[in-house]
Amino acid sequence: MTIISMAVVPIIFVFAIMFFMKVKKAFKASDEAEGRLSTVLQENLTGVRVVRAFARQSYEIDKFDDKNVEYRDLTYNLIKLLAGYWCVSDFLCMLQIGMVLVFGSYWTSIGNISLGTLVVFTTYESMLLWPVRQMGRILTNLGKTMVSLKRIEEILEQPAEQPADNEQQPKIKGAIEFKNVSFGYNEGTQVLQDVSFKVKPGQTVAILGPTGSGKTSLMHLLPRLYDFKEGSITIDGTDIRKIEKKWLRKHIGIVLQEPFLYSKTIIDNIGLAKENVTENDIYDAARIASVHDVIEEFEKGYETLVGERGVTLSGGQKQRVAIARTLILNTPVLIFDDSLSAVDTETDASIRRALKHREKKATTFIISHRITTLCEADFILVLDEGKVVQTGTHQELINKPGLYQRIWSIQNALEEEINEDIQKSVS
Ligand SMILES: Nc1ncnc2c1ncn2[C@@H]1O[C@H](COP(=O)(O)OP(=O)(O)OP(=O)(O)O)[C@@H](O)[C@H]1O
Ligand SMILES: [Mg+2]
Repeated sequence: MTIISMAVVPIIFVFAIMFFMKVKKAFKASDEAEGRLSTVLQENLTGVRVVRAFARQSYEIDKFDDKNVEYRDLTYNLIKLLAGYWCVSDFLCMLQIGMVLVFGSYWTSIGNISLGTLVVFTTYESMLLWPVRQMGRILTNLGKTMVSLKRIEEILEQPAEQPADNEQQPKIKGAIEFKNVSFGYNEGTQVLQDVSFKVKPGQTVAILGPTGSGKTSLMHLLPRLYDFKEGSITIDGTDIRKIEKKWLRKHIGIVLQEPFLYSKTIIDNIGLAKENVTENDIYDAARIASVHDVIEEFEKGYETLVGERGVTLSGGQKQRVAIARTLILNTPVLIFDDSLSAVDTETDASIRRALKHREKKATTFIISHRITTLCEADFILVLDEGKVVQTGTHQELINKPGLYQRIWSIQNALEEEINEDIQKSVS
């Protein structure tokens, strides 16, 4: 009787383990398909204007449909597998009870065992089978958990930024020197080649160059957002690779080419990076960034929510809020990556004027194509295909044939044309 009551249990066991292997694969496939579906959806929602502007709705809908069908099919597959497992395992469990009943009844009828024994056996049998059935459920969940865990692990396993040995926290005043710096994002490709220049504290350096020439990359090396292998960069004589990253970044204010604002109020966005920030600090920074008056005009002023859930600022307003956020830190080094491109020439000039009149003049890098900006820099770096092709002041460079002179004469010609047009329309 005992043997019969246990006969099917090993089969259920083996079946559950085989199923466990299968469900792991099916769940992984369906989970990844869900990831792909969310990516398409997210891209479409954030890029909804691009999709409309290029009339790509039906193409994008088809793309979404493809991923959706894929996800549905794979999930359907998983559910079919689960359904199959449940009915087979339940069938086996019931079969087990059935066998006990049939054999037990027979043996009771011929007097081999008493009726009491049969009742006890069937009761125990149901108690025994309940956890066996549960095991399948646990294995299914275990399969899913293991897949999910692996996917989280992929992210957790990314190496964190490692501090170097005996890192320093030197006083930073803003003398910067690049010496024969070469850099590439991947092995084999060179984005910057043999870049060398020297900046004194408080100087303003303008960087000019065609798109893709490596201006942003050059500036990202300074706060060590990327590490370079060849050459050296020093701040006040200390190699930046020996300076603690957090310390270094605390002293370099960077306004990124594509500023990102959080879904918070303007005041929170500006005060984000500074501890114990006062309202006056925020107003001052906003004034220098020429955005104070604009903010005051909003109905809720500095308490206006921006970002995805709030008011959408114009490109130039967003850039100026980002500039204020950086300025508030009062860093000895400032980097503006094309940050003044979305504001008009006048605002651009007034921001630069305000920067100049600050108590502590920061060493400033400005990536820009605007001649008025370039004119006022202490010196200009002209980059082309990752190399510094020209350096000098505006006066020096306009007299030398080269990229700078070409860009200058084009902008000059344009300006003259505009001025002539204005004068014609006035007269
Ligand atoms: N994160 C990255 N990974 C790999 N390659 C990159 C990365 N960022 C930039 N690049 C490549 O490096 C080169 C220089 O790019 P960079 O962004 O520095 O140019 P840029 O001068 O700032 O151009 P733009 O004026 O358009 O902003 C480009 O060829 C670009 O494709
Ligand atoms: Mg750039």
